[in-house]
Amino acid sequence: MAKIIDDTSRTFDEFLLLPGLSEKVHVPSNVSLKTPLARGPVGSPRRSLNIPLVSAAMQSVSGSELSIALARKGGAGFIFCSQGIESQVAMVEQVKEHKAGFVVSDTNLKPSDPLRQAVALRKATGHSTIAITHDGTGHGTFAGLLMSDDFWEFKDDLDTPIERYYRPLSSLTWAPAGVSLTEATELLWKNKIKCLPVLEEDGRLSSLVFRKDYFDHHLFPDELTDDKKRLVVGAAVNTHDYRERVSALVEAGVDMLCFDSSDGYSAWQREGIEYTKAQCGDSVIVGGGNVVSREGFRYLADAGCDFIKVGIGGGSICITRGQKGIGRGQASAVFEVAAARDEYAKETGIYVPICSDGGLSNDTHIIIALALGADFVMMGKYFAMTAESPTPTIRHRGSLYKPYWGEGSARARNWQRYGTGGSMKFEEGVDAFVPFSGPLSDKVEITTAKLKSTMCNIGALSLAEFQNKAQLTLVSPMTFVEGGTSGVEQLDRHSIDEERA
Ligand code: IMP
Repeated sequence: MAKIIDDTSRTFDEFLLLPGLSEKVHVPSNVSLKTPLARGPVGSPRRSLNIPLVSAAMQSVSGSELSIALARKGGAGFIFCSQGIESQVAMVEQVKEHKAGFVVSDTNLKPSDPLRQAVALRKATGHSTIAITHDGTGHGTFAGLLMSDDFWEFKDDLDTPIERYYRPLSSLTWAPAGVSLTEATELLWKNKIKCLPVLEEDGRLSSLVFRKDYFDHHLFPDELTDDKKRLVVGAAVNTHDYRERVSALVEAGVDMLCFDSSDGYSAWQREGIEYTKAQCGDSVIVGGGNVVSREGFRYLADAGCDFIKVGIGGGSICITRGQKGIGRGQASAVFEVAAARDEYAKETGIYVPICSDGGLSNDTHIIIALALGADFVMMGKYFAMTAESPTPTIRHRGSLYKPYWGEGSARARNWQRYGTGGSMKFEEGVDAFVPFSGPLSDKVEITTAKLKSTMCNIGALSLAEFQNKAQLTLVSPMTFVEGGTSGVEQLDRHSIDEERA
C-alpha cells in the first residue's frame, strides 16, 4: 500500500526571514558570498564559487558567452549537453580560451555578404563591431572590420556587398597573437581606437580587444578562474553517451561535469558518476541530480558525487508535475536535503554541497533557498533573460523579449534528460518567451547586493553563518498580501507632469 508522508510541500514564497541582531561590523562590504562547490572535509571544500549562482544546462541559457559573463562575476555556467559532443566541446573551449580582455569574435561575416546580413547579425548578437574574415568565421583569415558608423542602415543600399564598406586590414592597427593585455591596451589608447584585432602568424583572426572592456575590467573583482588563470566552466553530461562525452570535455579543459537528469535517484546515474570519478579522480568536479529527498541525496553522495542538485517540477518552463504527478515543493526539498547533507557531514566528516535547481523566480527566492540550506542555486529563466544568453532579442508590442524553452520541450528534443528511451512521447517543458533584462553583470550586481543586505539584517558575514543564524516563519496568504504595497497608486510620473502643465 502507498505511504503518505507527514509533510506538506512548501514553496519559497511561503517563508519569511526574521531579522537577527546586526552589529556595526555587519555591512555589505564585509560580507563574503564564497560558497563550497565540491565535496571535501567539513570546513575545507575542494573548490568554491565566489558567488552562489550557476546557470542551467539548457539550450536557451548556457552558451559560451553567458558562461564567460557569469564566471567573470564569480559564478559558473554549465554548457548544455543536448547537442553534439563536438559543438559542446567547442563551447567549453571558447570559455577556456577566453582571456580577460581578449574576445573570440562571435559576430563575423565574409566580404561578399550583403550589408543586410550585417544588420541582421548585429540585432541577433547585440554587437556592433563585425569581424570580416575570408570564410566568415571567428578564426578565419582576417580581412578587416565593419564598425557601427561605416554604413547607415536606413540610407545605404543594403544589398551592397560589405567589401565596399568595411575597413581593410591595411588601414587598421593590429597586434600579433601573444601580445599582453597591457600592450594591447597601450595600442588602443595611443591610436585612439575602439577595437584592436589580434592576428595569428598566418593571418587568421585570434581575438579582438575592445576599449570598453578596459574600462569594464575593474568591475570583475570576483572572477572565478582555474590555477592557470582561465575562467572556470562546467558542462552537462547525460547517462547515455557519457563514455565518449566525458573524455572529450575533459580534454577541452572543463572544470566541472554534471549529470543532467530530471530524476537523478537512479542506478544509471550512479553508474555514470562512478565511471566518471574513476576516470577523472579529483581533477574534475562531478555533480549529479536532481533529487528531492534524503534518500536521493544519500544515494548520490555514496556514489561519490561532488555536489548534488535538488529540485523536481519547480522550473519556470516545467510541466513535469502536471504531466506525471511527480515532484516536490522546492523549499521542502531543499530543507530536507540540506538536513541530509549536514547529517552526512556529521557521520563521515565529508561535506557534499547542494544546489537548489529551478523555480527561483526572483531575488527573494534565491535568498530563501540559501537560508534554507542551499550552498548555491542553479537558474534558467533568470539567465535566459539576459543579453548574454544564446538567443536573439525580440521586440513584441513595444517590449523586448528573449525565447526560453525547456529541455523537455519538443523544441529541445532532449530525450536523454528524461530517460524516455530514444523518443519523446510527451513533453515535460514548454517553449516560451521571457522579458529581456539587460546585461548579466547588472542583474547579478542587484541580486548579490540584496543578498548581502539581507545577510547583514540576519547578522551574518558568510553564507555558512547565514544558514546557521537564519530563522524563518511560515506566512499566511494574508501576510503575503500585506507584504505588497497597499492603498497607494504608482502613477506614471510623466503623465502627472503633463497634467500640472
Ligand atoms: P528555472 O530557473 O525556473 O527556469 O528552471 C531551470 C531548471 O528547470 C533547469 O536547471 C532544469 O533543472 C529544469 N528544466 C529545464 N528544462 C526543463 C523542462 O523542460 N521540464 C522540466 N524541468 C526543466
